[in-house]
Amino acid sequence: MFSHSNNDAFDSIIGHSPALESIIRTAQIAAAADVHILVEGETGTGKELMAQALQQSSRRADKPFVIINCAALPAELIESLMFGHEKGAFTGAGERKDGFVQKAAGGTLFLDEIGELPLSLQAKLLRFVENGECQRVGSHQLEKVDVRIIAATNHDLLQLMNDGRFRKDLFYRLSVVTLRLPNLKERRKDIPELARHFLQQAAQRNNAEACSFSQDALNQLKLYSWPGNIRELKNVCQHVSALLPGEIVHKENLPLAIQESKAVSDSGYTLPEHGIDMESLEIDLIKQALSHSGGNKSRAAKLLGLSRDAFLYRLKKHKL
Ligand SMILES: Nc1ncnc2c1ncn2[C@@H]1O[C@H](COP(=O)(O)OP(=O)(O)OP(=O)(O)O)[C@@H](O)[C@H]1O
Ligand SMILES: [Mg+2]
Repeated sequence: MFSHSNNDAFDSIIGHSPALESIIRTAQIAAAADVHILVEGETGTGKELMAQALQQSSRRADKPFVIINCAALPAELIESLMFGHEKGAFTGAGERKDGFVQKAAGGTLFLDEIGELPLSLQAKLLRFVENGECQRVGSHQLEKVDVRIIAATNHDLLQLMNDGRFRKDLFYRLSVVTLRLPNLKERRKDIPELARHFLQQAAQRNNAEACSFSQDALNQLKLYSWPGNIRELKNVCQHVSALLPGEIVHKENLPLAIQESKAVSDSGYTLPEHGIDMESLEIDLIKQALSHSGGNKSRAAKLLGLSRDAFLYRLKKHKL
């Protein structure tokens, strides 16, 4: 049985949608189990926040938490930055230095954007992940360091593996537990609660009264597609908090892209505000299909997702 050391750490992750709650339950167990964890999710879905909660609720909570953005490491220094180096290991290496791994000893290493790690370093990281052993640049000795790894990615690592850009063995070592954070549009139910939280946070920071969203504004926020996910919602809340402190924020006060978003149907088509003429649209589509198929009726029917009989019936109906 795993003990849950400090589940309060997850309170900072706002939301009660089933998609999020089931991930938090898994995360609580994984945090206590001290295994390596892979956090997946699009930009702004809260991967770093999740990593922090994992660290804070683990038995390593009072040990170092070292954050590394793998996409921002200069290629020629990456190995020494990660594993340290000996004095004189390369030009400019004036003294022996610890790498991120040694700095994180006993604690947690957060490898953000792990998909960006060059293959050469992936091989070295694999050895470290497998048995905790690493080698400083310029040293022949193996060092053992106890570090838990939480890796995050907004890339599809399976795709990167298929393209030969990410090692399969490393993937399987790191993803002992995988936590996939849902996009905001998959958890629209959480929008009012998140918005309230961010408006209050912004008000506190600005030392002003919190504003609130009207129902029509909230409805509109729920329609929007949120490509930037929770970070984007947070930005919108900060924006309106700065412009309308203490006020009720209406649909008209929202950024244009959000004001203009419309309900998207399952088919992907959006009915224009002024409506359409169904009859002439049907005639037009039939003509287009016939033109595409060079007059072949079976192929035209197929283009419209109709059986040949249903297509012939419509030709007759419209006297085409
Ligand atoms: N569930 C949540 N509750 C409250 N705040 C959240 C939640 N999810 C994300 N945030 C906030 O949204 C912002 C973006 O989150 P975070 O930086 O963790 O995302 P990320 O997935 O690491 O993004 P990126 O891939 O762009 O690095 C942060 O300010 C974070 O505190
Ligand atoms: Mg991040």
